[in-house]
Amino acid sequence: MSLSLQRQIGTTSSFRIPQVLTEARVGGRCGEILGLPFFVPFYFNSLLSFWFDQGFLLLWNIKPYNPDMKFFIDTANLKEIQEAYELGVLDGVTTNPSLMAKEGITGKDNIMRHYKAICDIVDGDVSAEVVSVDLAGMIREGEELVEIDDKIVVKIPMTKEGVKALKYFSGKGIRTNCTLIFSAGQALLAAKAGATYVSPFVGRLDDISTDGIALIEQILTIYRNYGFETQVLAASIRHTMHVIQCAEVGADVMTGPLSVMEALLKHPLTDSGLEKFLADYAKGNS
Ligand code: E4P
Repeated sequence: MSLSLQRQIGTTSSFRIPQVLTEARVGGRCGEILGLPFFVPFYFNSLLSFWFDQGFLLLWNIKPYNPDMKFFIDTANLKEIQEAYELGVLDGVTTNPSLMAKEGITGKDNIMRHYKAICDIVDGDVSAEVVSVDLAGMIREGEELVEIDDKIVVKIPMTKEGVKALKYFSGKGIRTNCTLIFSAGQALLAAKAGATYVSPFVGRLDDISTDGIALIEQILTIYRNYGFETQVLAASIRHTMHVIQCAEVGADVMTGPLSVMEALLKHPLTDSGLEKFLADYAKGNS
């Protein structure tokens, strides 16, 4: 089922269904009516399709669930990518020329080898950014990048030439991530050109006293209005509250550093609680 339909009505679900059913990949529509979750297996779908398609969702204020929120790590550091992968929650990687330079990766061959090394670690999409600014250069680079591995997603900047490149790649079935998104208009244009992902930079907007999360929400609304399949990849994530806020508004993906993922698991009451449990155990078992 298309992602746009998933956004509108929910679909094959691996959550809120007993484990035995998720293993069997039982599909259906899921969502929430008046605060109560529901799940309707596919065989009842045909009866409901008409109503869902005719705006039943809006009428009854049904909130759809996304199938998952993807976590990407925003780095070119192999050790950090490996660590995030071992945590078991990693869905992909985003890189950019600054992150590659930070790791000291220079020269075309080294850059290509490094992307391959990243792809060998993760199960998921790996965004590799072009550095050309003209259409022909972007196309040439993108086509070389996707030869590295099936996981590669060509990252294209939001420029006039970039929009043309998005259209070209989407026509070829090559996945793209439109980067440097700072407005809803840019996101709309990228979706119309067939981008697989758009990357609005939440942190960099916050840096200039503009609400980055509000932009994510605005883009999601626009995409839902028209059923665009482009996924909203919240980028430039700086801290745990960004992640939580992205999850609250329903961003499809967030990309941030390992430190942010690790910070999600921390709470002082967890630490002191565990310390006390272990101390009490030691008293009775030493
Ligand atoms: C997006 O893909 C970019 O690589 C990244 O998220 C930018 O983040 P920054 O603003 O922390 O550099």
